[in-house]
Amino acid sequence: MKAIRIENPGVDYRLALDETPMPRPGAGEVLIQVRAAGVNRADISQAQGRYPPPPGASDILGMEVSGEIAEAGEGVAEWQVGQQVCALLAGGGYAEFCAAPAECVLPVPKGIGVVDAAGLPEAYFTVWANLLMAAQLKSGERVLIHGGSSGIGTAAIQLCAARAHEVFTTAGSGNKCAACEALGATHAINYREEDFVDVVKKATGGRGVDVILDMVGGDYIQRNIAAAAVWGRIVNIAYQSGSKATVDFSSVLMKRLSLLATTLRSRTNAEKAAIRNAVLREVWPLIEAGSIKPVTDSLFPIAEAQAAHARMAKSEHIGKILLTL
Ligand SMILES: NC(=O)c1ccc[n+]([C@@H]2O[C@H](COP(=O)([O-])OP(=O)(O)OC[C@H]3O[C@@H](n4cnc5c(N)ncnc54)[C@H](OP(=O)(O)O)[C@@H]3O)[C@@H](O)[C@H]2O)c1
Repeated sequence: MKAIRIENPGVDYRLALDETPMPRPGAGEVLIQVRAAGVNRADISQAQGRYPPPPGASDILGMEVSGEIAEAGEGVAEWQVGQQVCALLAGGGYAEFCAAPAECVLPVPKGIGVVDAAGLPEAYFTVWANLLMAAQLKSGERVLIHGGSSGIGTAAIQLCAARAHEVFTTAGSGNKCAACEALGATHAINYREEDFVDVVKKATGGRGVDVILDMVGGDYIQRNIAAAAVWGRIVNIAYQSGSKATVDFSSVLMKRLSLLATTLRSRTNAEKAAIRNAVLREVWPLIEAGSIKPVTDSLFPIAEAQAAHARMAKSEHIGKILLTL
């Protein structure tokens, strides 16, 4: 089969389409004929040699796909050959075929095209696992989502808006802020022009937000603490601006805050299954009802994976970049 190979891992990596052996579905796995694969920022880190796949995972890039079940491995009764699905993977998605644990597979939501569905798993697993499971977001609470125009951000805004939360978000241009508001953000803050702490404080009468989803880190660590309400929860999924900071923790104490951080990729299949089940129960009906839509920024044929990565690296996109097969 054809798959993307990383020619020279490192800052000047090159992605090339090459022949490689077909994967075989192990016990409890399915083989998926891939129609589209989601591009994630972590793929860039992996190609640069900074984020190796977890032990046992394919070393081919790609953490989410959509397509058709081509074969069910031993012990898999849940999925049948020909069914249209999307799946979260620990790796292997930039390829014509990939193996996926059966418990990380979901049906393509009704009314959604199979290609667009490739952009759903990583974003909604991550958003659910962090906002609802880790940060325990409750009905009526206010949220702040950093990086609102990212794949993760566009999903988080829509999910929170669909569940009637007041949503603050940050993005790096007026155009991106307008897109975030169209997705349901109540206050989109251009972080290059405004201080999100000031905007949050002013709009909430000094109270702050209950839950913050952060992918930035660096100086946002202290500023998130300032923007959080009493009993607030701050959950980091990345530290793009740095994982080291000098922090005054007195407000963490006085406001009784929780600082959390999680990763998804290295979790056990049992943990991912619990997230999959919640996403299927709580998010898929919102997608099928039209309250949440996939936000596909652009499609690139898989042979142009390098150009897809370049678009993400320049942060030109809003939503998900997908590779098609
Ligand atoms: N821990 C986990 O389990 C997990 C799972 C999935 C993803 N992630 C992480 O989540 C992040 C988003 O992933 P993605 O694939 O959706 O990537 P993406 O679409 O490339 O998103 C990156 C976003 O970061 C934003 N950003 C950068 N600096 C910022 C700043 N100072 N303030 C506000 N926003 C800023 C960018 O916004 P502008 O373009 O407007 O600057 C961009 O929207 C990545 O860092 C990824 O590694 C973590």
